[in-house]
Amino acid sequence: MAFKPFDLTGKVAVVTGGNGGIGLGMAEGLAAAGADVAIWGRNAGKNATALEKLKTHGGRVEALEVDVSNEEAVVDAMSESLSRLGRIDTCIANAGVGGGAPLTEQTTEQWRKVTTVNLDAVFWTFREAAKHMVARAEAGDKGGSLLVTSSVSAIHGAPQNQAYAVTKAGVLAMVRGTAVELARHGIRANAVLPGWIATEMTERLQSWDAFNEKAIGRVPMRRWGEGEDFAGIAVYFASDASKFHTGDSVVIDGGYSIF
Ligand SMILES: NC(=O)c1ccc[n+]([C@@H]2O[C@H](COP(=O)([O-])OP(=O)(O)OC[C@H]3O[C@@H](n4cnc5c(N)ncnc54)[C@H](OP(=O)(O)O)[C@@H]3O)[C@@H](O)[C@H]2O)c1
Repeated sequence: MAFKPFDLTGKVAVVTGGNGGIGLGMAEGLAAAGADVAIWGRNAGKNATALEKLKTHGGRVEALEVDVSNEEAVVDAMSESLSRLGRIDTCIANAGVGGGAPLTEQTTEQWRKVTTVNLDAVFWTFREAAKHMVARAEAGDKGGSLLVTSSVSAIHGAPQNQAYAVTKAGVLAMVRGTAVELARHGIRANAVLPGWIATEMTERLQSWDAFNEKAIGRVPMRRWGEGEDFAGIAVYFASDASKFHTGDSVVIDGGYSIF
């Protein structure tokens, strides 16, 4: 029999922030590997464009207009994704925002804007997906994969970035606890830590010469990462190839962190 550990036929994935950048790269990988995919995002236009791309892979795809900073919206969207696609095998909490200010000037409002989307919403997303996965496991169908997009900011220090870094480090702790708690149901939890990736989030930095020279110039791979660089890791963690791999964090940064 052929060895096809990355075949996702029959599996269903939800990707928050799946309408662009890293999330769309992940969603495209999942769809190309045979999964049915639901993407969540706030922007209807971006959702529609991403949906057209995903449809070319031939599986069932859905786009939901969701603001993950609203707990009720996350609860409703998970239930809607489930009813449209029938089950959820993989849930990727990828939606995220940047934003910071000098520590001495940073307001609680600015802090909460980042922590609500990048941390609270990951909790709500994991919780709602896990409810379904645990119930399914208790009914005899064990398994599931939770994945979060963290950042190398969880490890590196950067000025004016405390709120963002706190959220990205916080989700690593979330992943470890979740991995231990849900392992008995065959449910895994892991994190991906991207380095510098050319997406909407980094648009300003991409056209900044000094940044390209000093930061991107020291990336051993000598380039910005792209959304599509995250297709493989999404497929791996959604697939049976990673069935004993849990509680881990994987850095994908072209070698930036180890240089
Ligand atoms: N780019 C990098 O260098 C880098 C490095 C490390 C980690 N990351 C992380 O990677 C993840 C994806 O970011 P990206 O780089 O791909 O940037 P991006 O292109 O700006 O993507 C962000 C995604 O999150 C969605 N989103 C943001 N706020 C949301 C909300 N309140 N509700 C629902 N969706 C929301 C956006 O969709 P809408 O616009 O439609 O809301 C979009 O799909 C983030 O968690 C980010 O922190 C990025």
